[in-house]
Amino acid sequence: MPVKYLITGGAGFIGSCFALASARQERQLLTLDKLTYSGNLLNLRSLEQNPLHRFVRGDIGDAALVRRLLEEFQPEALINFAAESHVDRSILDPEAFVRANVLGLCSLLAATLDWWKTLPEKQAAAFRFLHISTDEVFGALRHDTPAFTEKTPYAPNSPYSASKAAGDHFVRAYYETYGLPALISNCSNNYGPRQFPEKLIPLVFARARAGETLPVYGQGENIRDWLHVEDHCAALELILTRGQPGQTYNIGGRAERRNIDVVRDICAILDELAPRPDGPHAGLIRFVQDRAGHDFRYAIDSSKLERELGWQRRFTFEQGLRETILWYLDNPDWLQATQSGEYRRWMERRYGGEDPA
Ligand code: NAD
Ligand code: DAU
Repeated sequence: MPVKYLITGGAGFIGSCFALASARQERQLLTLDKLTYSGNLLNLRSLEQNPLHRFVRGDIGDAALVRRLLEEFQPEALINFAAESHVDRSILDPEAFVRANVLGLCSLLAATLDWWKTLPEKQAAAFRFLHISTDEVFGALRHDTPAFTEKTPYAPNSPYSASKAAGDHFVRAYYETYGLPALISNCSNNYGPRQFPEKLIPLVFARARAGETLPVYGQGENIRDWLHVEDHCAALELILTRGQPGQTYNIGGRAERRNIDVVRDICAILDELAPRPDGPHAGLIRFVQDRAGHDFRYAIDSSKLERELGWQRRFTFEQGLRETILWYLDNPDWLQATQSGEYRRWMERRYGGEDPA
């Protein structure tokens, strides 16, 4: 019998990468996703005919649905990717983040516990609830402060990171209070195929291809630690199979870059692979008003994951970024399909009034 995973939020960027990787390992998969604006069934298209995969549209906050699916499917693990994930949206609508990332997660935990308590001892001990969290819960670093470890205290600054931090505390509480075998991973910025083009790398790609301005917040000095999504998913598989319940694991790319350098790198790759007739892509860069409460720097120390579980990243940032740009160039239909009315409304609301000068 193949190992069975229930993947929540599996139609999004990272969840779909995890589903595709798990399918390659012949796991039996049930994907539950609400299909919000960032969830896209095209991400799971290659699993459509796969008898080991089933998709259900639904909300992690629908306890009756979750309880029924758990009962029917009897997974060995539940991996939760479902969330509102964009910091800029959280600044404009914080309550949507509380609903999905706190209340939705609490409901998912309660339904899972309810089912888990009915399991025979061996099956209960083997079950894993893996919650996917973020490095943003640790707050912001300066240039000279050491990277986040699993012991760094939580200090979230945005409504998004506050909602993720609250969710993490509930996962921890379910382990400590009820013994639910839960684990948390805190990861740095992901990049790769199928990322919704509101996030920096696909946004810059999409706008550059359309000949639009490339908005860089502030002076572009903020630093992020970039990790290829496939390296993230490989780490999650290790955490599921070798990690200890009650533990948290930091996952990072050891690839700190200033935003302006990332944007210039994308422009340089595009100049080579898809040159613009009217000059280098970097000519489209505009420094625009900074994000409110913009965290200056994130950096992850993933030595616990490397030491205890033997994880190593496979992609350097340079190689991964080039492959990512190639993927977006080769998949214009995917990009077009994401640019729905909702995408256009967001671009207009967020960047429409921006003075590009
Ligand atoms: P995403 O926005 O691409 O995908 C989120 C998915 O969750 C979508 O398919 C959406 O439809 C689904 N969803 C949202 N609310 C739901 C609900 N109530 N019920 C069921 N499904 C729901 O996000 P992503 O970048 O793939 O991020 C996945 C997870 O990883 C999130 O929890 C995020 O906080 C975390 N994370 C992301 C990054 C990153 O760089 N993208 C880094 C670290 C951690
Ligand atoms: O660190 C992990 C987090 O990374 C995840 O938890 C989040 O889900 C994910 O969205 C991401 O958050 P960021 O805010 O770091 O990602 P984003 O792509 O929105 O922005 C990356 C950096 O680029 C950030 O410093 C803001 C800047 N930026 C972003 C956009 C969208 C710009 O300069 N211009 C832009 O238009």
